[in-house]
Amino acid sequence: MKKIIDVELKIRKVDFDKCKTDLLAVGRFSDAKGLDKIGSMLNIRLDGAIQRVIELGDFKGKEGTNAVVYGNGQIEARRVLLVGLGEKKKATLDTVRKAAANAANKAVATNVGTLGLALHRAFGGRFDPGAVGRAMAEGTYFGSYRYDEFVTGSENGRPDLLKAELIDADSAKTKKLNKGLSAGIIIGKAQSYARTLANRPGNIINPAKLATIAKELARSSKNLSCTVFDEKQLAAKGIGGVLAVGSGSENKPRFIVLKYRPAGKVASSSPTVGLVGKAITFDSGGISIKPSAKMDEMKLDKSGGIAVLGTMKAMAELDLPINAYGIIPAAENLPSGTSYRPGDIIKTLSGKTVEVQNTDAEGRMILCDGLSYAEKQNCDVIIDIATLTGACRVALGKYMAALMGNDEKLIKRLQRAAEDSGEKVWPMPSGDEYAEEMKSKIADLKNIGSKWGGACTAAAFLRQFVGDAKWAHLDIAGVEMFEEAAEFAAQGASGFGVRLLTTYLMNFGK
Ligand code: BES
Ligand code: MN
Ligand code: ZN
Repeated sequence: MKKIIDVELKIRKVDFDKCKTDLLAVGRFSDAKGLDKIGSMLNIRLDGAIQRVIELGDFKGKEGTNAVVYGNGQIEARRVLLVGLGEKKKATLDTVRKAAANAANKAVATNVGTLGLALHRAFGGRFDPGAVGRAMAEGTYFGSYRYDEFVTGSENGRPDLLKAELIDADSAKTKKLNKGLSAGIIIGKAQSYARTLANRPGNIINPAKLATIAKELARSSKNLSCTVFDEKQLAAKGIGGVLAVGSGSENKPRFIVLKYRPAGKVASSSPTVGLVGKAITFDSGGISIKPSAKMDEMKLDKSGGIAVLGTMKAMAELDLPINAYGIIPAAENLPSGTSYRPGDIIKTLSGKTVEVQNTDAEGRMILCDGLSYAEKQNCDVIIDIATLTGACRVALGKYMAALMGNDEKLIKRLQRAAEDSGEKVWPMPSGDEYAEEMKSKIADLKNIGSKWGGACTAAAFLRQFVGDAKWAHLDIAGVEMFEEAAEFAAQGASGFGVRLLTTYLMNFGK
């Protein structure tokens, strides 16, 4: 197995024309009149080459576009990359992040080894410079990410390491950018870690393998421990939902519990946060089998659990002053002679019974046990994240996750974290009307509702397993992957949730 591309990111004080690099990225708004300070300086040195690209209309500064300008040794950079930033008044920190991602993506696509980033200059003093440094770091990791660990040979010639630098001629500016850099690097790396794990197929990652990976993470992280329940312990503890879903596969289910306790940092009265992530390592639908078209995408059905893993990694590296659990029920949903069936009645960890009407509604069958477990550990705040319903993808498309919950303040906080992190959410209901549809005649609950409002009925089912805890639910079906490569991202797993949840935790108690 090949190692995925390594990215190193530093800040350097250097004059823009003296920056020795393969690719020097500068930003440009679509409604900019003329060139800004660095733009005109570079343009003069390059005998008007930037001006010509713009005048010919080859580059309009639209968001998600870029253009390469070649010099002739007049400046130290071998290429200048003009990166489109869109309309100036619409710019947010996510514009900064996406611009860095666009530049880093281009750097990898052209197989260069070094990248200079001067994108922050276009934004003047509009945003907090530390936040800009962080967004640029997150974007650099995001855009340079590629999943190619099973591609043998090196014909495409990509370097093993991309050396990126945020550059500025002014040391006061580099100092301020530097404030957000280390957090941005930690979060960016955690997200790439999550993308790689999510991208790995079902023959490489099964529940037991995922448990091993979680244990390795705990071993190599500060203040993080990991306990795993195997199928015998699942039976002994009555974790019936996970056992039922995992019963059809030779790859037995696991229940992974990560515990983060920053020694001496948190008052005992401080609330405990439980993150619960769905990890179906492959979802065939089980006996209620899915159609075969695009079934391969269901290797990504572990994305929620992996977002929790990535968040726990970032949390530990950032040394956040918070008590937290990362709870990851893991199973493979396959049809076989030992599978759970439609009609079965399952006793869950909560004691509540569930009538299975469709084995493809398996996410809620494992999450309900994860939520009960979090509640039993006295978590005050519980947030679950899952590729839960095709209905969510139909409702919101590929741009934002659905956000449901039972506490307005928690929902507001997650909405704010979404704005700051660029991982967007949209509020959806999950109240009594929807819960009504989940009642069974022969058990406490059933696992599917009517034909309509599938994302909401799924959330209404989960809601009944959190007791009095403040709870929020993120349905990430639709945003867990890029179906095709974009200007700022490679095709495949997106790592959605790592930035959102880490940002929420960084703002916790503030
Ligand atoms: N993992 C799927 C949901 C999904 C679909 C995620 C498409 C990403 C893309 C989930 O387990 C599922 O199969 N849900 C069913 C629920 C239904 C049977 C009530 C669905 O959405 O069809
Ligand atoms: Mn399913
Ligand atoms: Zn599923």
